[in-house]
Amino acid sequence: MEKIIVKKSAPLSGSISISGSKNASLPILAATLLCTGKCTIKNVPPLSDVKLMCSLLESLGAKISFEGKNIIVCVPKLKSHIAPYEQVSKMRASFLVMGPLLARYGRTRISLPGGCPIGQRPVDLHLKGFAAMGAKINLGHGYVEAKTDKLHSAKIYLDFPSVGATENLMMAATLCDGQTIIENAATEPEIVDLANFLNNCGAKISGAGLGTICIDGVNELSGCEYNVISDRIEAGTFMVAAAATHGCIKLENIPPSHLKPVIAKLREMGAVIEEGENHISIDADAKLKCVDIKTLPYPGFPTDMQAQMGALMSTVQGTGIITETIFENRFLYVSELQRMGANIKIDGRCAIIDEVRHISGARVNATDLRCGAALIIAGLAAKGDTEIGSIWHIERGYCDIVEKLQRLGANIEKSECDL
Ligand code: EPZ
Repeated sequence: MEKIIVKKSAPLSGSISISGSKNASLPILAATLLCTGKCTIKNVPPLSDVKLMCSLLESLGAKISFEGKNIIVCVPKLKSHIAPYEQVSKMRASFLVMGPLLARYGRTRISLPGGCPIGQRPVDLHLKGFAAMGAKINLGHGYVEAKTDKLHSAKIYLDFPSVGATENLMMAATLCDGQTIIENAATEPEIVDLANFLNNCGAKISGAGLGTICIDGVNELSGCEYNVISDRIEAGTFMVAAAATHGCIKLENIPPSHLKPVIAKLREMGAVIEEGENHISIDADAKLKCVDIKTLPYPGFPTDMQAQMGALMSTVQGTGIITETIFENRFLYVSELQRMGANIKIDGRCAIIDEVRHISGARVNATDLRCGAALIIAGLAAKGDTEIGSIWHIERGYCDIVEKLQRLGANIEKSECDL
């Protein structure tokens, strides 16, 4: 098995181009199941989660080919309506095939995704929405069986602006008769990207990104060529890595509007940030100080940036409080940072971070994707070597993170574990 070794690094400098978004690519790939024509999805990051989604689509009948970073998907007809446990349990986003399968096939048997390290992550909002659209839902043996002669439109209010439920229900509604309205919908940029992809294929969706989405059903979706948006969480992660080393870097190919809360919080800490048309520059040469952060649905502070900020705040002056309101167990990274000497106390949904003279390198373990990113960030500032195990978590969501950080001057490498 491989591990990542990080040493205290000089201030990061230089520029990198941000990759396509994992969390936009996965629902858009699932949406290709709705299309009878050819879909060419561009700027897809070559991540293990993308490969998992492609293999699930192929098991359902998709023909998939690759041209560089472009993925070509053709689904002239579906050959299966089953999404098995072996695939869905590996990646929660597999559950996003449910909407397309119900809309185009009228039935699906899909494994419940189960929880993951960061929380229980139920799918009740998805199922409630599908039931409102006429699906007959049965749960048993860890699977959801859903059937319908034809989904019909509905007015759906989401108790929580769930990203996945919004995506699943929006996809299902594209082929429904009539107009479906989703209220209290998630407004993340990835929702807008999915709606844009679907509209390019002939769907009639309005209001994506604004909280109430209207979908007028159509008979068929063709296919299209589509360029996935950049990954705002990758961009935010590199900004925080630059801040942890008091560096000065430029991120190309990322609209600052997708990162407003992260930019605001880093500025509040003392970093100088310049926003361009499609780039962001950060200069963190100054003394930085801790701030308070509360994660919220978009456009609030993203939960996917919470661990990275926890790592950064463990290396600067002052006391900061992080309140996590989205997931019930997203502080797993804290015990790993404590091994590095960080002074963090957890009280319910809050982590209180106090300053220490410095943190020191240690052997640590990535418990989930964003914990892994946080440990890399901490390692860049820690005295001594930090060895990070279970790095497959990191490779699920970050394309060439080691190489990109090396290009910015980080002292980081991948090596074989001596276990
Ligand atoms: C998406 O997950 C992202 N994943 C997550 O990114 C991200 O953290 C999350 O949205 C929140 O922004 C992808 O897009 C592939 P939710 P999703 O449904 O759709 C509860 C990463 O690191 N909930 O908005 O699963 C749920 O338990 C990953 O890239 C219900 O209660 O998130 C959670 O507490 C991690 N019932 C909250 O809502 C439901 O039916 C947010 O979940 C659905 C969700």
